[in-house]
Amino acid sequence: MNSMIVYLAGLQIFLLLLTLGIALVLLHKTRKIHLATYDLQSAGRETRMLFAQIQSLLALERKLGLAEPLPPMRGWVGSPDFLLRVANSVLERKPETVMECSSGVSTLVIARCLQIIGRGHVYSLEHDATYANTTRDLLARYGLSEWASVIDAPLQTEHTETPWYSERLIPSDLAPIDMLVVDGPPATTAPLARFPALPRLAGRMADRSLVIVDDASRPDEVEMVKRWRKLFPGGVFTDCYCEKGCVMLAFDRPLTAGQGSGSDATRPNSSGTAGEPMRDAAVGARSRA
Ligand SMILES: C[S@@+](CC[C@H](N)C(=O)[O-])C[C@H]1O[C@@H](n2cnc3c(N)ncnc32)[C@H](O)[C@@H]1O
Repeated sequence: MNSMIVYLAGLQIFLLLLTLGIALVLLHKTRKIHLATYDLQSAGRETRMLFAQIQSLLALERKLGLAEPLPPMRGWVGSPDFLLRVANSVLERKPETVMECSSGVSTLVIARCLQIIGRGHVYSLEHDATYANTTRDLLARYGLSEWASVIDAPLQTEHTETPWYSERLIPSDLAPIDMLVVDGPPATTAPLARFPALPRLAGRMADRSLVIVDDASRPDEVEMVKRWRKLFPGGVFTDCYCEKGCVMLAFDRPLTAGQGSGSDATRPNSSGTAGEPMRDAAVGARSRA
């Protein structure tokens, strides 16, 4: 009788362990299926995005009609969908003066569009001397040097709390900026690294102007655009849904700082003149999103 009880107890323990083992194996398999499904969904999203980029690239190549294909894009370089937006804007608006924060393939694209419309010049602020030369070489290789100037502009804090481009070599007789493309400095240099662009350049902008922001879906750029909207309420903001995010701000009157945002960033420079370049006072104080 006792041996029967021991046998049955042993059997129960065995069955319990077996059930536990099976449950563990099933859990493991379910997790693997879940992860594989996630990978498949990501691959699907990436494939759709890649297709959109290929379409934009084909449209861009066709629009620019260069003798050589464009250099590699995405990653550090602007994505084809963003650069297509920039190209379309230049071709449509026919700006006389384009200013760009950070140089590269974007400079080449803008310079070629200016060559096509037969007017204008792009000035590209570049903090990295090596990269500035790379862009100059690129422009020369494509025969576009006369349409673009890469300005050596190391990052410094002369007018801003966070490092921004030196303005020392911006030509003193620069015509009002019709179009501003913001794609630098790199995010790693500071929190809200690109925020100073508009406060610093507002006083140089034309009465009618367009600002194009790359990487606009990153938390810092979302916050930056939010602050700009408060600071310069006269602009029309459009979300352009590029892969890294793109926002356009169109102004049809001079950029002057608005009232009542309550942020230090709205404080004018020491002269107190609205619309003059401002000191970016608030940025250093906030933490990275
Ligand atoms: C976002 S990138 C600018 C890209 C540029 N507007 C374009 O579309 O080609 C910002 C800065 O990163 C730097 N940079 C560009 N390519 C880089 C790379 N492969 N590695 C490290 N830094 C790079 C350059 O100094 C550039 O000004």
